[in-house]
Amino acid sequence: MIRTALALAAALSLGAGLAHAADGAKIFQLQCKTCHQAKSTPMGPSLAGVAGRKIAGLTDFTYSAGLKAKAGTWTDANLDAFLAGPAKFAAGTKMPASVAAAADRTAVVAYLKTLK
Ligand code: HEC
Repeated sequence: MIRTALALAAALSLGAGLAHAADGAKIFQLQCKTCHQAKSTPMGPSLAGVAGRKIAGLTDFTYSAGLKAKAGTWTDANLDAFLAGPAKFAAGTKMPASVAAAADRTAVVAYLKTLK
């Protein structure tokens, strides 16, 4: 019992960053996966390796003119802003989904960084 509790406490403190990404994974399954698969589909671009990638940078997906017009790369701040309000970030974007809670966005961004 005690050993289990100690092991759990150790795992929790070590894995704080991972737990975060795990929360993000759950949100992703529920709110993103219908459109974002491992490979790009007509529903949405692949998000594998999206962190650090050029915004609207894949050649196997037809992005909106609005997102294509954005310069720069998917930094944490850009991902957070896009998920907070896609159309505010890039007028005319085809991405309809937003994540209202800041903590949920942080978790989803942590998860996106694990997608290679
Ligand atoms: C209804 C379908 C749909 C859902 C649900 C959806 N997306 Fe998207 N997403 C898109 C489309 C379509 C685009 C391309 C947008 C454009 O071209 O303007 C996109 C683009 C993106 C991009 C930019 C990719 C790139 O290559 O530049 C990110 C990041 C992203 N989505 C994250 C998410 C996350 C995280 C979620 C869940 C919270 C989510 N999306 C839910 C359809 C969706």
